[in-house]
Amino acid sequence: MKYIIAFCFGLAIILGFKMSKTGHDTFKPGAIWEDFDGNHINAHGGGFYYEDGTYFWYGEHKDQNSLAQVGVRVYSSKDLYNWSNEGVALSVSSNPDSEITTGSVIERPKVIFNKKTGKYVMWFHLELKGQGYAAARTGVATSDSPLGPFEYIKSFRPNANVWPKNIDDSEKVYNEEDKSLEWWTSEWKASLVDGLYVRRDFEKGQMSRDMTLYVDDDGTAYHIHSSEENQTLHISVLTDDYLDFTDTYVRVQEGGQNEAPAIFKSGDTYYMITSGLTGWSPNPARSFKSKSMLGPWEKLGNPAKGKGAELTFRSQSTFVLPVAGKDDAYIYMGDRWNPKNHIDGRYIWLPISMSNGKPEFQWHDEWDLSFFETASP
Ligand code: DGJ
Repeated sequence: MKYIIAFCFGLAIILGFKMSKTGHDTFKPGAIWEDFDGNHINAHGGGFYYEDGTYFWYGEHKDQNSLAQVGVRVYSSKDLYNWSNEGVALSVSSNPDSEITTGSVIERPKVIFNKKTGKYVMWFHLELKGQGYAAARTGVATSDSPLGPFEYIKSFRPNANVWPKNIDDSEKVYNEEDKSLEWWTSEWKASLVDGLYVRRDFEKGQMSRDMTLYVDDDGTAYHIHSSEENQTLHISVLTDDYLDFTDTYVRVQEGGQNEAPAIFKSGDTYYMITSGLTGWSPNPARSFKSKSMLGPWEKLGNPAKGKGAELTFRSQSTFVLPVAGKDDAYIYMGDRWNPKNHIDGRYIWLPISMSNGKPEFQWHDEWDLSFFETASP
């Protein structure tokens, strides 16, 4: 009997030590963030999904380099501070002929739930192995559970043979003049703004790189991505089952060089936070608002405020999460990339305040969700 008591006592001490080692009750932006197993969370370019009291965090598994060696990881949490590693939601394929083979590029996975089909739907940015960032595709996978496994369906360049809703008829012809333009000349810039790359890519489909998803209150899902050589955002309406693109899309901020889009809605207004276009290096964030997902989107400026705002506190947006059960409580989520050792990338989560109808966030070394109780409106 005394051995059993001693064993239970020892177990309690070990478990207690583990809980105190990994139990978090604050966010520490930029610090190593250990999951319940004591490992730094490996879910970069993340997307979040909430269901019945549980948050799910999907993100890129990174090794030292940024090529996909494992796939998309998923973590779960009840409180946003403490995360359990739930394994790999979407695995890379060992088949060299697969589009998601080991060594491809799988970035910025986002998951939504389709009430009509009962399927969890993941979209992500896919680059084919050995082609750098030239393929510029979006990929889709589905699962019956938020924890996966997700089954890969297909990837493609969206909106082939479809014109955006907000392009003039006069801008629909890819002509000889377009083809001879040199990058970074004023003529190139003017043509870019009026749809140069939409025309160029009309038949093969529009480029799709950094992306996010947004499901509106009426169930309509939108796919938001950097297109046109990352010069212009496209916002597309997905089909009812969320597995394809409809023929409805718009160009947003033509020639504005926006990456890393993140969307949220407050009241009847949609807000979007993006970054500029500087690879893995940080730059000043941007923000926009609109009364409709299909625009027009109005510029609001850099939502980051205070010291460090000029580089968005060395982060790049990936998601804005509404905190469940709290009104108007939104968290800016960004990646602090480490291109020399991607696995060491850090997560910068900061509370958003609305100020004169604009989203803003400031640096905090440490904060918790009580911020949203004490913040002045
Ligand atoms: C910036 C993007 O936001 C990242 O997701 C990644 O694609 C890098 N560029 C690659 O340079």
